[in-house]
Amino acid sequence: MPTKDVILTQLSKIIYPTFNKSIIDFDFLTSLEISETEIKITLTIPSSSDAIAQQLYTEIESRISVLSIIPLEINIIQPKAPKETSSQGKNVLPTIQHFLMVSSGKGGVGKSTTAVNLAISLAQQGKRVGLLDVDIYGPNIPRMMGIQEKQPLFLGKNIKPIKAHGVQVMSIGLLVARGSSLIWKGAMVTQAIEQMLEDILWDKLDILLFDMPPGTGDAQLSLAQSLPMSAGIAVTTPQKVALDDTIRSMDMFKQLHIPIAGIIENMSGFICPETGKEYDIFGKSTTAPLAENYQTQLLGEIPIEPAIREGGDSGLPITILAPNCETSLRYQSIATKVWSKLEEINAEGGVNNEKIQPTIF
Ligand SMILES: Nc1ncnc2c1ncn2[C@@H]1O[C@H](COP(=O)(O)OP(=O)(O)O)[C@@H](O)[C@H]1O
Ligand SMILES: [Mg+2]
Repeated sequence: MPTKDVILTQLSKIIYPTFNKSIIDFDFLTSLEISETEIKITLTIPSSSDAIAQQLYTEIESRISVLSIIPLEINIIQPKAPKETSSQGKNVLPTIQHFLMVSSGKGGVGKSTTAVNLAISLAQQGKRVGLLDVDIYGPNIPRMMGIQEKQPLFLGKNIKPIKAHGVQVMSIGLLVARGSSLIWKGAMVTQAIEQMLEDILWDKLDILLFDMPPGTGDAQLSLAQSLPMSAGIAVTTPQKVALDDTIRSMDMFKQLHIPIAGIIENMSGFICPETGKEYDIFGKSTTAPLAENYQTQLLGEIPIEPAIREGGDSGLPITILAPNCETSLRYQSIATKVWSKLEEINAEGGVNNEKIQPTIF
């Protein structure tokens, strides 16, 4: 009787059609039962195509049936054929349910801080969460998540994300030599992002958050072309000038056909650590009218708080250090709102990125 390991080795050689990862790397094997009378293999795949199921069936049969004369049963579980709208376009990460782009018009407004605390809050709510730092100009996620000294594990050309605070994390900052200056031309950005999407071995995830470079550029476009980006959120500070930049972010979401989940007003007021009293520094509540203009919601207001910056510097974000403080509860409430918005977008037929695919002549 062949051992489990022998069968798994054979299965790990089977590449999922049209991708370059195996059915084992994709985690499509649901069960493997070996008994005296039967070998039973069950796969759950994300495609509803008969051709793909047939191809896998044939390949599994030819690789496993030669190992023994024990009868082989293969079950391939598939989703029902999706609605016309969500079956089109491109998706290079079919095992991840939702994709969320965290954007801001400019740097320094707290985009990475928000991405980190939002990812942790979603994980605390029981979601399987990934966080990918594609801020090629200033990747801060490793420090903020406390993994800047960690070496990613390479498996051939693939890379395993690093688990930190309940979140699977990968950053372009861990993949390029430390201290090397990052000067990127447009085509390189696109190539680097496509390569990261292809090479990182995420577990099955409910949601993958992207910490974007500031502004609107090649990184945003290549992500939106590679994946059906479920939604975008914009992070802003309350000053008028920051809001002008935020308008550009919102317009970009529209151009890329990315539904807007809402805006987060960061550095909104200051909570004095001694007295707990709230002061208005950059202004406050200036974001709500902008959200209304774009028919979206203000997801929440996060105050300026020393513990937030300290959390970012030390690798122990506020949602980990003080999960029950007012600010952490605000992150929790934002996470809840974002999740229900994603469910709503899904229920309405999902996202289709076909319209923004590069034209092929
Ligand atoms: N609400 C806040 N209160 C205090 N410090 C904050 C807050 N939000 C962000 N910061 C700090 O401001 C700096 C810039 O934030 P960061 O998340 O890196 O911005 P971005 O990713 O938009 O460039 C960091 O040092 C961060 O710790
Ligand atoms: Mg940042």
